[in-house]
Amino acid sequence: MSEAPPTAVFDPLAHPPKLNIGCGWDKRPGYLNVDFQDFHEPDLVADARDLSVLPSGRYTDIVAQDVLEHLEREEVDPALTEWSRLLAVGGRLVLRVPDIIGVARVMADLDTVDEQRKLIQNLYGTQAYTGDYHHAGFTELTLRHSLHQVGLQVVEMVRKDEWMFDCVAEKVVDPGRFEPGPLPFMRLCDHDQPGGTIRVVPDDASSVDRVMSSVANRVPAGPRQSARKVWRPIRRQLAKRGLV
Ligand SMILES: C[S@@+](CC[C@H](N)C(=O)[O-])C[C@H]1O[C@@H](n2cnc3c(N)ncnc32)[C@H](O)[C@@H]1O
Repeated sequence: MSEAPPTAVFDPLAHPPKLNIGCGWDKRPGYLNVDFQDFHEPDLVADARDLSVLPSGRYTDIVAQDVLEHLEREEVDPALTEWSRLLAVGGRLVLRVPDIIGVARVMADLDTVDEQRKLIQNLYGTQAYTGDYHHAGFTELTLRHSLHQVGLQVVEMVRKDEWMFDCVAEKVVDPGRFEPGPLPFMRLCDHDQPGGTIRVVPDDASSVDRVMSSVANRVPAGPRQSARKVWRPIRRQLAKRGLV
């Protein structure tokens, strides 16, 4: 009788020093693709919360795109601690997570049940299988704080599709004191921005026309969403006065 072949021992050093955690179907060449669902056929089946099979300080790049929100709230900071452990100093963590304030901003501009339900699904996850539910959400402040706590310095943060953050954070030796800075993504309305205030106090039809034409010059060229964001608070103010 022939013997069963020995189980292959996972050798992390045989893989590139780049991780794609919670890879799903987005398996990236040049990365060790990790997921806890084996049906995704990752290079390594492992839980993002416990990657003790991987060595500390080895990785130059870790991608975790649309993953952190799948962990329970209390697990987010420990998972970030684990990912920070894996990074070499100067290594980068590339995150994509939902931005709760971004979701609220977009939601306020959506007019139909279908559009609103789609965004609610984005916020809570598709919920098709275990691991496909969202348990956590972020604001610019909470995300910056969590990253700082685990020794990661934000080097880039942008909004993606108006309701997520794409964030790059670098492992540093000493993150210093937590100084959150001006936090531009904490604003719910564009007209809250300094210099961006639009005051509309029309009291007759001709002032409405004047306001509308001056406002028209302020509507940025660009996607329909941006124009709607500018118009909506103005229309609301006009409607309050029974002028539209
Ligand atoms: C929304 S998908 C994102 C997939 C991929 N990163 C992308 O951007 O397309 C979330 C993935 O995280 C994985 N995941 C969720 N919880 C996990 C955990 N605790 N450990 C490892 N993977 C996890 C899921 O199996 C799923 O593949």
